[in-house]
Amino acid sequence: MNICAAAATGSSCTSTSSSILVFISSSLSNSTKTKFLPSVSRFSSKRICSFPQTHQRVAVCKPSMNLLNRLGFGSMRASENMDSTIPQGPDDDIPAPGQQFAQFGGGCFWGVELIFQRVPGVTKTEVGYSQGYLHNPTYEDICTGTTNHSEVVRVQYDPKECGYETLLDVFWDKHDPTTLNRQGNDVGTQYRSGIYYYTPEQEKAARESLERQQQKLNRKIVTELLPAKKFYRAEEYHQQYLEKGGRFGFKQSAAKGCNDPIRCYG
Ligand SMILES: *[C@@H]1O[C@H](CO)[C@@H](O)[C@H](O)[C@H]1NC(C)=O
Ligand SMILES: *[C@@H]1O[C@H](CO)[C@@H](O)[C@H](O)[C@H]1NC(C)=O
Repeated sequence: MNICAAAATGSSCTSTSSSILVFISSSLSNSTKTKFLPSVSRFSSKRICSFPQTHQRVAVCKPSMNLLNRLGFGSMRASENMDSTIPQGPDDDIPAPGQQFAQFGGGCFWGVELIFQRVPGVTKTEVGYSQGYLHNPTYEDICTGTTNHSEVVRVQYDPKECGYETLLDVFWDKHDPTTLNRQGNDVGTQYRSGIYYYTPEQEKAARESLERQQQKLNRKIVTELLPAKKFYRAEEYHQQYLEKGGRFGFKQSAAKGCNDPIRCYG
């Protein structure tokens, strides 16, 4: 029951996988929550997430009838939401004056968002879905892995306080860019590693940064480097999820510069 209470004081978590499973199932007797049960994210990087790795998938993401309908399988309903021109179009949202956007995918977006929330010069973060084919996707939709969306974090930063390079360094440092469509136990195209750039300058910096990072690693980096596309902000309960307390109600600090280990799912 004392799952990760230790993490609050900075030490790592020593729970066994079975106790995690018990804890999760007991906290999810409310069936309205079950449908929102996202995959249990454990970044493969042991630095951040010290949960033991298991082969047991805790998440149960089922395609909703809604999605099947929208894909044209369930009914006569036109698949208007599969019009890929909008989701594949550019992100035309505008950052606040003097600010810039950057977009990253590095596994379950809860942990990735908290990582960037803590970076000085980052003025706003949002989690969402991008790079897929479905217009206005829901969490359930992307959970199926069939819409080809990636779970991304859109970072707004003040370039006078935080260079794009800094964001890239954080990105490399906090996830494993060598596992295709996977971070730890989270497997699926929605967990792919990606840098989605907004400007030619960002693209160039990202490419050079990737090459430098590759020199340091034995395995090949599989991170995709693509233009930022339409950003679909995720449901409100996903925003700043871990800061708000995550699944277990233990709030995690989003203070700038905070180095506490991140418990990826609460
Ligand atoms: C189940 O969850 C809903 C929504 O979160 C909540 O309103 C309701 O009180 C919960 N019921 C129980 C028995 O916990
Ligand atoms: C999914 O999107 C990525 C770009 O983010 C692309 O490289 C890949 O080919 C797409 N997969 C499919 C099955 O369309």
